[in-house]
Amino acid sequence: MLDRERIPRHVAIIMDGNGRWAAAKGVPRIAGHNAGMKAMKEIVKRAHQLGIAHLTVYAFSTENWKRSSEEVSGIFRLLITYVKSELKEMMDNNVRIRILGDPSALPGDALKAVEKAVSRTAGNTGLQFNIALNYGSRDEIRRAVQELVNEVREGRIPGDAISEEMIADRLFTGKLHEDCGDPELIIRTSGEQRLSNFLLWQAAYSEFVFVDTLWPDFTPRRFEEAIEIYQNRNRRFGGRKESI
Ligand code: FPP
Repeated sequence: MLDRERIPRHVAIIMDGNGRWAAAKGVPRIAGHNAGMKAMKEIVKRAHQLGIAHLTVYAFSTENWKRSSEEVSGIFRLLITYVKSELKEMMDNNVRIRILGDPSALPGDALKAVEKAVSRTAGNTGLQFNIALNYGSRDEIRRAVQELVNEVREGRIPGDAISEEMIADRLFTGKLHEDCGDPELIIRTSGEQRLSNFLLWQAAYSEFVFVDTLWPDFTPRRFEEAIEIYQNRNRRFGGRKESI
């Protein structure tokens, strides 16, 4: 049973397996992403109902540009559809959308839709829904280092005083209006067990739950099961045994 008193504050998800889902059904890959978008809608709703403070999803990585232009443009068309169809519900549910990554490289209409969603929901104080778009964690860390170097050069911080906090503050996650902190739980679907350049710094003490379910089949019930697995783990943070 899910313990409603110990819901993780920040959950991150690697939504993997849309392509394999489509292949298994003998439909085009984009039909898999479409089904994946529907699954994502349901997970956002359940996250809101469970009182999760931050939900971060890996929607498009800095490496995903290597896919066919047809697939890439299809994913961004889906993103536009998603934002348009869900904006009202997000407003009703007090959900705030934020982007992690560099959205400036997105196709113009996708960028516009995303910017609108970010600005329209900016006053919402419920679930903070972070969508990683054109996101790569090494790129995120590189940018943070570059910023620190610039600040040292300009004499704003001493070069021998770099702290972990200074680095964390300059990551995309640290720059949100309300720092989303490190995810307590990272879920990856589809049976793959790797981070794929997602939240490398932030995952230092995260619990990982890998499920075999392909993302389009990942239901709110499966989501709750993953949280239950997390609740049964002991988090020690390198120290003494301690229950979460
Ligand atoms: C991974 O499956 C999924 C993606 C790279 C894209 C995720 C997109 C969505 C969930 C729908 C669109 C929503 C937004 C917000 C853009 P895969 O294609 O890597 O699957 P495979 O490993 O089976 O090929």
